[in-house]
Amino acid sequence: MYDFRGLNVLSNFPVGIPEWHPLQDKFVYFFYTEQILVFLVLKNIPFYPDLTQHQPGHSDAIFQHTKGREQFLLQQLPVAVIGDILGVPDSDRPRILHFGELGAPSLDIGLTWKQYLQVHDGIVGFDTWLAGHLQQLRRSPGDDLMSQLIVASDEGARLSERELQATAGLVLAAGFETTVNLLGNGIRMLLDAPQHLETLSARPELWPNTVEEILRLDSPVQMSARVARKDLDVAGTPVKRGELVILHLAGANRDPNVFTDPHRFDIERDNAGKHLSFSGGRHFCLGAALARAEGEVGLRTFFERFPDARLAGDGSRRDTRVLRGWSSLPITLGRARTAVSS
Ligand code: HEM
Repeated sequence: MYDFRGLNVLSNFPVGIPEWHPLQDKFVYFFYTEQILVFLVLKNIPFYPDLTQHQPGHSDAIFQHTKGREQFLLQQLPVAVIGDILGVPDSDRPRILHFGELGAPSLDIGLTWKQYLQVHDGIVGFDTWLAGHLQQLRRSPGDDLMSQLIVASDEGARLSERELQATAGLVLAAGFETTVNLLGNGIRMLLDAPQHLETLSARPELWPNTVEEILRLDSPVQMSARVARKDLDVAGTPVKRGELVILHLAGANRDPNVFTDPHRFDIERDNAGKHLSFSGGRHFCLGAALARAEGEVGLRTFFERFPDARLAGDGSRRDTRVLRGWSSLPITLGRARTAVSS
């Protein structure tokens, strides 16, 4: 069991608990969560075993081989990681992915009626499934982090049932719908830039910076929004209380005042990590460290396992606007190398 209640994580976590936040108490859980997630990813268990062991020509959890064609089910990687952490049985993953796919456009503005109904179905389905999942964990808690949260909140009465479900749902959904785009965008960008793959093979220490540059240049979450709580002035533009402000994170990531030659993909860029892809301030992404680790290990494992991977077609983008990723990306895998470092 991971006893996160005893850890003194707040003293070494880079941000303190925001005192202004109405959910101040709950943020302790988030911070614990974050620390434990990173610990699990970096120190724990075989990571992405399906990827490190896959043999081209065979079907397994993340590749489907039919009629001579191989389909890489990229979304299986992040859902496996976050699902393990949150105690989701493997057999439930396809349902969660389906709900996620239906619900993803909920972040967008201006949905058609048909999309709205799909989103509604996805969210209601996800919520119903999640309530059952939490009940199941409460009846027989496992080693996973979500069981720990339930036990902790039961003992300390710190989270209501509704808050617990909202927390679990947010972490689960945020944990796979975004990271899958980091992996897909990264694979595509690197296949388009074989010179970077050569550099990375000679200098693998550049992988963390490469992930930052991918996040900067093709941000998995393109936008966020805030409602002004009072009249204010943002860099000379007046904003009235109650007005909605859309923040184009992906645009800020290409600010020429911050990034030299901002449209260039440069894995050695000094300040690549200055992007806003995880937003900023009080709502800064709580899964950022996990996402970075998943991106680095996932991309590196993929390219070390399949050094001859090549694009086999144009692929198609997801039709969401806030989330940016690929819905399909045809790739010829080529040979599989046996020993990979991760
Ligand atoms: C590449 C992957 C990811 C990207 C690009 C990303 C991006 C973001 C962004 C932009 C926000 C802030 C939204 C805002 O400003 O309103 C956010 C919030 C959040 N993210 Fe992530 N995220 C990623 C992965 C994850 C993962 C893996 C988890 C969970 C383990 C996660 C959990 C959360 C949570 C709980 C929040 C809400 C924080 C709050 O409102 O205070 N994210 N994320």
